[in-house]
Amino acid sequence: MEIMNAGMGETSYAKNSKVQLKVISMTMPIIEEAITNLYYNSTSPSSLVIADFGCSSGPNTLFAVSELIKVVEKLRRQQGQQSPEYQVFLNDLPENDFNVIFKLLPSFQKKFSSQLGVDAGSFFFSGVPGSFYGRLFPKKSLHFTFSSYSLHWLSQVPEHLENNKRSIYISSTSPPNVAKAYYAQFQKDFSMFLKSRAEELAVGGRMVLTFLGRKSEDPSTKECCYIWEVLAIALCDMVDKGLIGEEKLDSFNLPHYAPSASEVKSVVLMENYFSIDRLEVSELKWSSMFGERNFSEAVADLAMCVRAVVEPFLVSHFGDAIIEEVFRKYKEILAGSVCKESSSIMNVTISLTKRG
Ligand SMILES: C[S@@+](CC[C@H](N)C(=O)[O-])C[C@H]1O[C@@H](n2cnc3c(N)ncnc32)[C@H](O)[C@@H]1O
Repeated sequence: MEIMNAGMGETSYAKNSKVQLKVISMTMPIIEEAITNLYYNSTSPSSLVIADFGCSSGPNTLFAVSELIKVVEKLRRQQGQQSPEYQVFLNDLPENDFNVIFKLLPSFQKKFSSQLGVDAGSFFFSGVPGSFYGRLFPKKSLHFTFSSYSLHWLSQVPEHLENNKRSIYISSTSPPNVAKAYYAQFQKDFSMFLKSRAEELAVGGRMVLTFLGRKSEDPSTKECCYIWEVLAIALCDMVDKGLIGEEKLDSFNLPHYAPSASEVKSVVLMENYFSIDRLEVSELKWSSMFGERNFSEAVADLAMCVRAVVEPFLVSHFGDAIIEEVFRKYKEILAGSVCKESSSIMNVTISLTKRG
């Protein structure tokens, strides 16, 4: 299974994950609400075991968890209680660049300790390599878990997508079996994720999950398919230039599924391990990512963000010779088609409590 671009270089995920960082910030109030409820329902816990599923490597990894700990510290101060000890597990696939995180830890821990103050409990970080589509922890050992922008990655490319010509995901021109195969794979994977976490979370434990998703019930909507449609057009351009074969493109599909809120809900209800505390769709407009930069810089950033996520999948199928040209074309198409005002991505966030 491929992972995001490793290391700290120009095309790395660590340097190109601003969209995901913004999404963590946007969904933080839901995480805050869940950890607050967990804290109030457990009488002065002496330890808090937290796990991040699909942590990747880079600044986002430690941002989410440190925000979470700050919330607990604020709560326990308000209550005049002692700080719990924090055990933090950072999970990702074994291929993830855990060393980037481990190298950031000493300076992070020093800075974070001084921010929290001397009366804060100790915190202990560990990396947990393995697929979250299976068991990773002992039974009932976790209190709070979250996952941001990881669960839309499937365990594998669905089978029987041979007729998905000149597309790399569900598109408006894909035959109906394509969307069906993707949804079936998503249901199977997400069920397995819930089953595994249901065993690992203590009763009353919380879980907040954010997917790159969609508001529409149509799986081929531009809301979630646009970034991949542009990539498919860039790859078709490589075919037209004779740089890759047509069959090579037709046999490439992404192991990705952007679910709607109701699809996420229906798997949770079907498995019945968790009660649903909140289910929300939020929208991130590209224009809000522009900041001080001009349009072409923002487009270059967006292209780099997609590249950091998807390059390893492309390299393993097509080789690395075409990568620069694919992303030059990708940027060119984006620049011609992204409408500053209306282009956005949708996030589906669900907040859950483990049933007794
Ligand atoms: C787009 S990154 C998101 C990282 C981080 N949570 C953030 O918000 O920036 C998705 C991460 O999920 C990881 N991932 C994908 N499938 C996984 C699986 N089956 N088990 C564990 N991690 C997985 C990838 O390796 C990648 O690091």
